[in-house]
Amino acid sequence: MAESLLTLSGVHTHIGHYHILQGVDLVVPRGELTMLLGRNGAGKTTALRTILGLWRASAGTIRFESGNIAQRDTPAIANLGIAYVPESMGIFAGLTVRENLVLAARRGPPDEKRLDWIFRFFPPMKKFWQLPAGLLSGGQKQMLSISRAIIEPRKLVLIDEPTKGLAPAIINNLIEAFAELKQTDTTILMVEQNFHAAKSLGDSVAVMDAGRIVHAGRMADLAADAALQTRLLGLSLEAHQ
Ligand SMILES: Nc1ncnc2c1ncn2[C@@H]1O[C@H](COP(=O)(O)OP(=O)(O)O)[C@@H](O)[C@H]1O
Ligand SMILES: [Mg+2]
Repeated sequence: MAESLLTLSGVHTHIGHYHILQGVDLVVPRGELTMLLGRNGAGKTTALRTILGLWRASAGTIRFESGNIAQRDTPAIANLGIAYVPESMGIFAGLTVRENLVLAARRGPPDEKRLDWIFRFFPPMKKFWQLPAGLLSGGQKQMLSISRAIIEPRKLVLIDEPTKGLAPAIINNLIEAFAELKQTDTTILMVEQNFHAAKSLGDSVAVMDAGRIVHAGRMADLAADAALQTRLLGLSLEAHQ
């Protein structure tokens, strides 16, 4: 088992009067893709946002490498090498693909080597380099959003439901791109409702329910156990295939 890059222990998050995360324990092994699954409303997005400091944990620790980041602010957390691809895709529709990527690079314009690396995963980014991002298809916008997150080397990339609303053929393109990205040493924590995508990409898996992790293990073991899938994920699994 790989060493842990990120470990949440007993993390609670309150949003206003609501107690959303209720003691989350989660281990994200270094160099792996960890799938975070669970029904709608289970707390998956809240967990990603809490890791990034967009919601402040009200209790518990979030250890990234050797430090507790639970009470740090978002820019400081991002500076440690953590990127976030929100469900709503953070891109600028009126700017070109190139401008979107240049703006995402904090250490100055990305060099050619990095861009070639990105184009390898997402060829449409090269093809539509000078096109306003608003004209891209849904799948291409998602690719741009992910490209922005990895325009500079990151230690950990948090990705929220990247296949949501995309056509099956486009989902397969994205799965191929993630499979490539997995070959690099990027650690990924991904929320995914599409079980086919989750199954093909996940190394490890954690399942959330009502603000807690209710199952953690290897994705291959969950994928092979239909009864466990039904117990943990219910009908949502079939509905999203
Ligand atoms: N800004 C908010 N204000 C109040 N409740 C919220 C807010 N965001 C999320 N919630 C609630 O927190 C719970 C978990 O939401 P979320 O983390 O988005 O779940 P998931 O991503 O697993 O679908 C849900 O009950 C949701 O209604
Ligand atoms: Mg969500």
